[in-house]
Amino acid sequence: MLRLRDAVDAGIARLTPTVGTDAHSDAFVLLAFATGRQIASLRLNLDDEIKPETLSIFESAVAQRLKFQPISQIIGYREFWKHRFKVTPSVLDPRPDTETLVEQALELGPFKSIVDLGTGSGCILLSLLSEWPSSLGVGIDASDAALDVARDNAGTLFLTSRTDFRIGNWCDGIPERFDLVVSNPPYITERAMDALSRDVKDWEPRIALTPEGDGLDAYRAISNGAKNILNPNGVLLLEIGFDQGTTVTQMLMDHGFFDVHLHQDINGKDRVVSARLAPL
Ligand SMILES: C[S@@+](CC[C@H](N)C(=O)[O-])C[C@H]1O[C@@H](n2cnc3c(N)ncnc32)[C@H](O)[C@@H]1O
Repeated sequence: MLRLRDAVDAGIARLTPTVGTDAHSDAFVLLAFATGRQIASLRLNLDDEIKPETLSIFESAVAQRLKFQPISQIIGYREFWKHRFKVTPSVLDPRPDTETLVEQALELGPFKSIVDLGTGSGCILLSLLSEWPSSLGVGIDASDAALDVARDNAGTLFLTSRTDFRIGNWCDGIPERFDLVVSNPPYITERAMDALSRDVKDWEPRIALTPEGDGLDAYRAISNGAKNILNPNGVLLLEIGFDQGTTVTQMLMDHGFFDVHLHQDINGKDRVVSARLAPL
């Protein structure tokens, strides 16, 4: 009889040369995925038998991880803010840093209408709509495959009737105006892409990571277009890279935004810029 302990020990041994000190936690997460059990229950019952079909699911999951596939893509989801979001190779794996943007929106809100530019999995828009039960939201993305994931996530969270997901290029061609524009656009410079870990570089969509060049093109497009899709006195919230605060602040002021502020993430790094459009 093969026990959970044998499987997890073998998994750790296979994973260690590739993922180093993460091998232990990765092996338990993947075993939890394969067995459908909680990690705590696995740890307490390592002498339980593992069935051959479960072992085979676990072994394939380990094999995927050995190819540097992110855990969220293997198990199919990521916890973000208060919910579980479906994740596939077509969307950015939602990052804890992005919760800074959600927190900031909640401090300034509620807002009745929201547009999320580069919605990806929909994690920002859907988190805000779940906090504001009478708000409506539009999610824009350049990737059809990402929009399918966002729609699935809206369905799981019972938010379909309050959302509209559309293909688009930042603010272009959006006919309506909103009280809040949010975006976590791609902002890694082309040069910095080479230095990313293989989990990110090989598996997450390049279009979600970098606009190429100096990493600022999405901010240029959004700071230019957002005034056409915001209501008077509306708020713009942008996630930024830790070293982009001064440049993006200046860009927004050059486009007539006021009340421009930088907000830090839990590590004390600049992570979000907020700005307001002039009242009528
Ligand atoms: C950094 S990801 C953010 C995803 C999600 N909002 C989040 O925070 O996890 C950027 C998203 O912008 C989308 N995107 C890239 N270029 C775009 C464009 N020109 N217009 C609209 N969306 C774009 C990508 O497909 C990707 O989903």
